[in-house]
Amino acid sequence: MTPSSLPIRPIVDDEWSALGRLLDLAFHETHRPDEWEQFRAVAELDRTLCAFDGDRIVSSSGAYTMELTVPGAIVPAAGVTIVTVHPAYRRRGLLNAMMDRQLADLRDHGEAVAMLWASEARIYGRYGYAVACEQAAVDVARTEAGLVPDAPDTGRLDLELADPTEARDELAAVYDRMRPTRPGYVSRDDGQWFDALFDPEQRRGGSTPLQALLVRDGGTATGYALYRVKPEWDPAGPNGQLELRELQATDAAAYVACWRFLSGLDLTARVSARKMPVDAPLLYLLADHRRARVQRTDALWVRLVRVGEALAQRRYAAPVDLVLDVADGRCPWNAGRWRLAGDETGATCEPTGEAADVRVDTTVLASAYLGDGALAAYAVAGRASESTPGALRRLAAAMSWDPKPWCVHSF
Ligand SMILES: CC(C)(COP(=O)(O)OP(=O)(O)OC[C@H]1O[C@@H](n2cnc3c(N)ncnc32)[C@H](O)[C@@H]1OP(=O)(O)O)[C@@H](O)C(=O)NCCC(=O)NCCS
Repeated sequence: MTPSSLPIRPIVDDEWSALGRLLDLAFHETHRPDEWEQFRAVAELDRTLCAFDGDRIVSSSGAYTMELTVPGAIVPAAGVTIVTVHPAYRRRGLLNAMMDRQLADLRDHGEAVAMLWASEARIYGRYGYAVACEQAAVDVARTEAGLVPDAPDTGRLDLELADPTEARDELAAVYDRMRPTRPGYVSRDDGQWFDALFDPEQRRGGSTPLQALLVRDGGTATGYALYRVKPEWDPAGPNGQLELRELQATDAAAYVACWRFLSGLDLTARVSARKMPVDAPLLYLLADHRRARVQRTDALWVRLVRVGEALAQRRYAAPVDLVLDVADGRCPWNAGRWRLAGDETGATCEPTGEAADVRVDTTVLASAYLGDGALAAYAVAGRASESTPGALRRLAAAMSWDPKPWCVHSF
């Protein structure tokens, strides 16, 4: 039997530890059996899809039942995860077989949208996924960068350091208040919070355990930062690096209070954050922004599983009423002409026989879905075209959104 024709099915409970061993093998990681037991609570076994060679699990994929913030709404979304093929079975079509099966399953499930974080950028475009959300890795020389003199006063706020796991309920309250404020936020249930705060020693690379800085205003948590410090000493003195994993703040004072604390920590020279929004407020708070090095990378990838429903469930920054001729090489049920009509209050997207204004691949629509404004550049790159003059510009303006999408939670 060729690998791509091996049977694919969800795993059952007593196959979980074997799946854990495959994940460690494929991702070059090491977890203890008890850690895999803890992760059992995060998984949705009925939404795993694994290929079996006899009794042996040789590939895996899964989906979490999650919510995604899109422009103007929060919608159900499948969080695609644990995608692997056993190293001895690679490049013989197993991923193709799993992804086609998963897309068909997702079509029949409750979500019109799927999303994932990609280990490598060249894997998922062929399945209709596109980068819908970028992130900025920011590295700040903290003392040289300083703060603008008119940064808000934060004296009234209370700051406390806490164990992240013990502070989880307060972290979750802040995170949930932030979710509607920006496209790209994903829901975190108990399992996802366990994952977000999972902090085994072997992953710290010489840094301290994760710390939670909580900011409170009148007793209510209004912001937090999750960080660790990697101590380092040079002949010239302390040269530690603060690794900021996540910063959430429901108002400007909490944001500034977090940054003031982090950038003022003794024995550190730099603050580095891998997952900041591309329009991170921090960049507008520094007295010398040249002391911040910024590198953009992809963050969340999106797939429009049912394109009409997906486009109807978000809102549009400008009124739009256009016929889109959508190409979709992987999900034929999406291909064809759709009339998209919408504005800031709602939208419809229905099949139509009318003439098309715009021709576009579903991956391009997925890339523009969270509002990052990429559609205009796709048009310049020749990956979308119009038969009605000005239609692409109107579509691009309608699909853009402010603020730009951001997703800090990988899964
Ligand atoms: C990524 C991975 C799942 C691919 O599995 P696979 O069995 O080799 O995939 P397939 O043989 O079905 O290949 C499907 C297609 O993707 C391409 N492809 C697969 N992995 C690729 C990669 N890393 N880079 C570029 N192309 C890749 C194949 O060439 C093939 O192209 P084709 O259909 O045009 O011929 C596997 O290499 C793996 O487990 N990697 C380590 C874990 C990982 O990174 N998982 C992804 C997590 S987001």
